[in-house]
Order: sequence, then C-alpha cells, then structure tokens
Amino acid sequence: MIEKKEITMATPHICANPGDFAPAVLMPGDPKRAERMAASILDNARLVTDVRGIKGFTGEYNGDGPHMGKELSVMASGMGMPSIGIYSTELFKFYGVDRIIRVGTAGGIAERVKVGDVIIGTAAHTTSSMNELRIPGTHFSAVADLRMAAAALAAAEGDPRVYSGAIISNDHFYFSVPGQFEALQAHDVLGVEMEAACLYGVAAEYGKGALTVLTVSDHLAHHDSDMTSEERETIFQGSLKLAVAAAFA
Ligand code: HPA
Repeated sequence: MIEKKEITMATPHICANPGDFAPAVLMPGDPKRAERMAASILDNARLVTDVRGIKGFTGEYNGDGPHMGKELSVMASGMGMPSIGIYSTELFKFYGVDRIIRVGTAGGIAERVKVGDVIIGTAAHTTSSMNELRIPGTHFSAVADLRMAAAALAAAEGDPRVYSGAIISNDHFYFSVPGQFEALQAHDVLGVEMEAACLYGVAAEYGKGALTVLTVSDHLAHHDSDMTSEERETIFQGSLKLAVAAAFA
C-alpha cells in the first residue's frame, strides 16, 4: 500500500519531490502515530519522506462527506518547538503547503477539562523564546487561523467535550516554574503541550494557516487518570474529524 519513489529535491530535513505534499498536512508528534493515521484516513497513501524517521505520507482522504477523495498529507513533527519549527518552515517555504494542523495530546490544566476531552488551541502562551525575536520590542501573539478553528468547531457539532481557547506551549515537559500551574489555571488556560506557539509563529511568518487540535491525555491536577502510551496512540479518532475539517476549511 505504501511505496517510496525516487527523489529529485530535498530540504535539510525533508526528502520529497515538489508536489509530494497536499495543501494541508496533519501533524502528530510521533512518527508511529503519523503512520497509523495515514493508514486509517488515507487511501493510496504513499511515503513521501522519512528523514530521521520523521515519516510523511500523502494520499486521498477516505472519510465520508464532502472531502472524501481529496488529497491530504500526514507528517510527524517530532517533539518540542525547535522540531516543529524545522518541519513547518520547510513545508510552508519549500513544499507549497498552506495549512498545518497539529494533532496531538495535552495535559489538562483548567478543572473543567477532563481526560479524553478535545481542545482546539486558538491561542498559545509559551515559555519559549522562539517568537520573542520576531517583532522587536513586542510580545508576539501566537494565534491559530480562525477560519480553520471555526471549521473544526463546526465539525464538533456542539459536543460538550470539545473546548476552544488558550493553551500553553512549554519547553520543559518535566519542569515548571513554581506558581506557573496555579497562574495558568487562574487565567483559564485549557492545557499544556510543547509545539503550538512555534507553529503559529512560523505560519504567521509565511502567511499560512495553522491550528492545533489536542486530546487530553492526562490532567496536571489529577494524575490518577493518566493514559498509557498505547492508549495515547489510539485516542486520536475523535479529534481527527475536527482536524480534517480544518484541513479543508
Ligand atoms: N506537558 C505535560 N503534560 C502533558 C503534555 C505536556 O506537554 N502533553 C501531554 N501531557
């Protein structure tokens, strides 16, 4: 089902030909998830890049509805902002990609957000310095494409387990500044992940669209309900419908 072809062009981190990517790319962090996602939602999926094991696939969307049969790509981002910054830049700048939808997991922060819920990250606070230098003397606002966010929200059809709002993109997974969690909760931040703020900055730089759709895999205040890595890998089905709606917005 998945075959590789000869390469005539490459960027430092993507080895694919011009036209190998669809206008929209769904981006999970994990290459294994990218492969599972491609196998489940794409017909005729072909492997278009696998530099450093970061796999990218392009095929035809196989879901019911108006987007069935349209070209769509899936590619892993790796973990953290430097990693997604590399791949999103090369996709936007060299491969003609217009929209990237990060499809990942988040730790819940707001009390009302529960494990298994979905978060549409319309804005991303961050502990990273990656957006700090973009506009001198200015705190950059890392925001999603609202047309894509609106399409994802519409696809949720009022599901009460789908939230939209601000998230935080942290550099550290295992460390947070004392008091950070409480202040984030007090400011109604929905969840924490590690990529969105950089992705939104890169999208702004290239005049492209980006969105983040996250499944809550654990809650920072209630660690009893954490998911196993296997559960995290299969949890995406609910959020995929939303991400696909954003891809074709
Ligand atoms: N931080 C903390 N918990 C998490 C994260 C994260 O980035 N992603 C999923 N659970």
